[in-house]
Amino acid sequence: MTSANLLTTIQGIPKAELHLHIEGSFEPELMFEIAKRNDVSLDFDSVDAIKEAYKFNNLQEFLDIYYTGAQVLIHEQDFFDLTWAYLTKVHSQNVVHVEIFFDPQTHTERGIPFDVVITGIYKALQRAKEELNISFKLIMSYLRHLSEAEAFKTLEASLPFKEWIDGVGLDSSEVGNPPSKFARVFKASADEGYKLVAHAGEEGPAAYIWEALDLLNVVRIDHGNRCLDDQALVDRLRAEQIPLTLCPLSNVELKVIQHMEDHPLPKLLDQGILATIHSDDPAYFGGYMNENYYATAKALNLNNQQLEQVAVNAFKASWLDDASKEEHINAVKHYFKHLT
Ligand code: HPA
Ligand code: ZN
Repeated sequence: MTSANLLTTIQGIPKAELHLHIEGSFEPELMFEIAKRNDVSLDFDSVDAIKEAYKFNNLQEFLDIYYTGAQVLIHEQDFFDLTWAYLTKVHSQNVVHVEIFFDPQTHTERGIPFDVVITGIYKALQRAKEELNISFKLIMSYLRHLSEAEAFKTLEASLPFKEWIDGVGLDSSEVGNPPSKFARVFKASADEGYKLVAHAGEEGPAAYIWEALDLLNVVRIDHGNRCLDDQALVDRLRAEQIPLTLCPLSNVELKVIQHMEDHPLPKLLDQGILATIHSDDPAYFGGYMNENYYATAKALNLNNQQLEQVAVNAFKASWLDDASKEEHINAVKHYFKHLT
């Protein structure tokens, strides 16, 4: 397939985004604009200087910059603008359903109230549902470099907004902060009715994926690339059809894998794993959903059948109700059936 044809094919696929940190969609242009109106100084003189700084050797180098960028977000309007910019962007890429993460502690630690953060994000999601026909779920992530007690405080702060929050996740610095550290707060989160996911096996070992399954009881693993180190784990993921939300551009940018040509996606699909493609932190890693699909398909020579599988998997892995899942899956199948 030519590059132009591949792009056109990808553009047309109805897509679900299941692994996206809203703070990671903060484009430098918007960062500058919000910094200016909030009278906050940035460490950079220009958009180009910011982009120049986006070269990472590992997860931590990225996180340091990502948390710094988020510091210009202060008012409800800022969180609304951030989320709305993301939603209009992905709408243009034929993303029809999103399940997005936000990191409340990145903001509450700086004195920004929980309600300011979530209200801005939620209003943008509601507007996108009404005006862009994008359905959504919202996932609150605990920062794993902080303590269990801090996560419990965040759970408590979220309770007045329970109706707006569908699940909890676990992100930030993985190595040295295993899922077991959060077993009790995940149990308490489940007791409040939240669904559970966790980042595991991005930089951390396969053992962290086992922990996320056995100690946290998650229904999806975010990333999970490292499962291939452990065949018994792969067998378990396949048997239980536990989704892995992969983020190929993120993996290359954070040197989780060295080259896109080495990405494990095809191996995982071959083994019957419910693998999906997402964008993680698109403003930092060079692309949204289409760019992730494109880079992966190009480097790994994915055929249409594999692309269709990935797109179907994302709706299967989503938290939509069964009727909506079926509708979207039929739309994907119909699309590929009629491709010329
Ligand atoms: N990994 C862990 N934490 C994160 C990431 C990630 O890729 N992006 C934003 N927070
Ligand atoms: Zn992530």
